[in-house]
Formats: sequence, structure tokens, C-alpha cells
Amino acid sequence: MTHEQQINTLFNQRYQHQPDVICYAPARVNIIGDHTDYNDGFVFPAAIDCGTTIAASKRDDQLVKVYSHDFGQSSTEFVLNQFSFDTEHMWCNYIKGSVQALMEKYPNLRGANLVVTGNVAQGAGLSSSASFEMAILKTFTSLYQLELDGKTAAKMGQQAENDYVGCNCGIMDQLISAMGKKGHAMLLDCRDLTFEDAPISDELSLVIINSNVKRGLVDSEYNLRREQCEQVAKHFGCKALRDVTLAQLESEKAQLPDVQYKRAKHVITENARTVAALTAFKSSDMSTLSQLMAESHQSLRDDFEVTTVEMDGLVEIISEQIGNQGGVRMTGGGFGGCVVALMPKTLIKQVTEHVNIQYPERFGLTADIYICHASQGAFRQIEEA
Ligand code: GLA
Repeated sequence: MTHEQQINTLFNQRYQHQPDVICYAPARVNIIGDHTDYNDGFVFPAAIDCGTTIAASKRDDQLVKVYSHDFGQSSTEFVLNQFSFDTEHMWCNYIKGSVQALMEKYPNLRGANLVVTGNVAQGAGLSSSASFEMAILKTFTSLYQLELDGKTAAKMGQQAENDYVGCNCGIMDQLISAMGKKGHAMLLDCRDLTFEDAPISDELSLVIINSNVKRGLVDSEYNLRREQCEQVAKHFGCKALRDVTLAQLESEKAQLPDVQYKRAKHVITENARTVAALTAFKSSDMSTLSQLMAESHQSLRDDFEVTTVEMDGLVEIISEQIGNQGGVRMTGGGFGGCVVALMPKTLIKQVTEHVNIQYPERFGLTADIYICHASQGAFRQIEEA
């Protein structure tokens, strides 16, 4: 049974009628450029072939009924315009936050019957939450034929996280989930949301290796990092760290607390690496890309301090095998979760075998390895593909 047939059956069992729409939004992996998005910087993600699927039917009232198949098979309901934060079903707050943002544009939104399923590893740093938000927005706009472009949808998803869920994330995850292009990665300028699609060569594979250390302390540590970056931007009288050069930072080093200096150094150097990575990527210069990804990981480990020993170990284990033929680094927010590797297809077998032996030996844990394919964002028009 396909995923679509499965959710169709679930929907029928639940509501005794066919869904009007089935919508999907992908998760993402970031190849390089982490903790740069909320500093108005550059990121280089791809949408991947796992995500959130929602089946839905229209309602004449303002009730939203939800059955979630993958969050402990729970169900809940709320009335549009009258809802509050849900402490029992945390997952439902992504729906509420997204719907609240959508209602600023469409205040007369009507309710829906929903079934939600997903196949993104939870707590792995692959942004299951952004895929959930984009899937919800896609569902409501498809159900009621509302106009919504991908960039606006991404901003609404970010607003849901920032104002409703309480994570001060940047725009990367939502934007790539909305606007990713099949077979491509995207260099995104998070200041003005312009982007360039870059095709992923057929000879390369995008591999995600889950350390299976669930992300912890994410929101509090994440929000703290963001504050530290903003303090440095303020010190320089700038809107964001994007506007501060490395030379300026070095000249003020003595005036800044060490921790703030290190955070800013990561962001400024990571922006430069990300832009350089696009050039290397487009010309298949794997040795430069390998170097840039290695430096990115070190910077996230030593200056931004968001990796774990298990992620560091995985990066070591994998880079021993791929050398300068590919790159590997942590991906996403950090504090556990996944590392990403870009490598020639011919190396997959040997890397997998090595990880399967070395990782359990060093950490007593098993890693999950996903060979993924860059996929289409939920709001990307097919004719743009
Ligand atoms: C999380 C956030 C993103 C981004 C990354 C780190 O995934 O949601 O906005 O900041 O962390 O690059």
C-alpha cells in the first residue's frame, strides 16, 4: 500500500468519508551553513524524501478535528479563534501556531477534519516540525483554495514556532520545505530570501547518519545562542551578524566576552564557507567542499558548542573513509541528531560498513543511515521545476 492509500484508509476509518485533499511537505537536511539563518546569513539545505502527510476534509463550522497517527495515535480538537496552548498534545501547537498565522491573512478560515502522518525521524534535527507546519498550511490553502506563496508560507511557519511554540528559529527549515527543488540543493540568502538552486550530481549521494542521540535542551540552548549572536551585532551597532566582518570582530576581541566572540566567529566564518561551498559544489570541486564541511563542523564544535561527542565521533569515522572525495559534518540545530555526508555513490557501501562497526564499538550505539534524494517543496510549482 502506498503512503497515500494508507492515509486514505485511516481517514475513512476515522471520519467515514473520503478526504477532499491529501497534502505533503518534506523535511530537510542542511549541507552547510548552520546557525547562520537567524543572523541574516546564508544556508545551503535540500528538501529530502521524508516528511509529513495530511489528509483533510472541509467543515462548515470552525472546528478543527485532528487525529495524529504518529504521535502516539492521539486525537484532539479545537475551535478556530478560541484555542490556547496545548500542554497535553505538544504536537498540536504546530497546527495551532500555523493556523493562527494563516488567520491573520484569512480571518474567516473554516475548520477541517484532519489525519496527520509522518515518516521523519523525531528529534533528529531533520526539521519534522517545519515539515508539519508547511503541510498544515498547504492543507488549509488547498482545502479552501486560498492563495499563499512559498515564501509567505515559510514566514508563517516561522511565526508559528517563534510566537506560538516558543522556539526562536530562523527561516531555513520552513523555506526549504516550501520551496525546495527536486534533485537540487538551495543556496538561500536569509536576509532577503533570494535563492539559487544547485543541481546535485548523479554521481553523488546525500547521506544522513542519525547518531540516535535524541536532541536535548534544544529550545533553551538554541534561544541562548541566538541571544549571544544578537548581543554581538548590537555591540557593533549592526542589524545582524551578517553585517560584521571578521576583521571588525578581531579588532574588538578584547572588548567582548570570550563566549560571545566565539559565537560570532562561528557565524561570520560559516557565512563565508557557505557561499564558497556553492562555488565548489557547482564545479564538483569535492576537495574544497570536503575542507569547508570539515571546518564547519569544527567551528560548530569548538566555537558554537552545539555538537555532541557522538556526532563528533561519527564525523571522524566517516571522514576516515571519504577523505577529500566527499564532505561530512553535523547538520541542523545540533545538541544531538544527525550528521550529513555528501559522497560519491561508489563509497556508500564502504562508509556504511565502517559506521556499522566503528560507531557501536566507540559509543555502544547504533546509527541509522538514510540515503536520501533531494525532493520538491510543498509550495514549489511544478512548472518552476
Ligand atoms: C534549527 C532551526 C533553523 C536553523 C538551524 C541551525 O533547525 O529551526 O532555523 O537555525 O537550527 O542552522
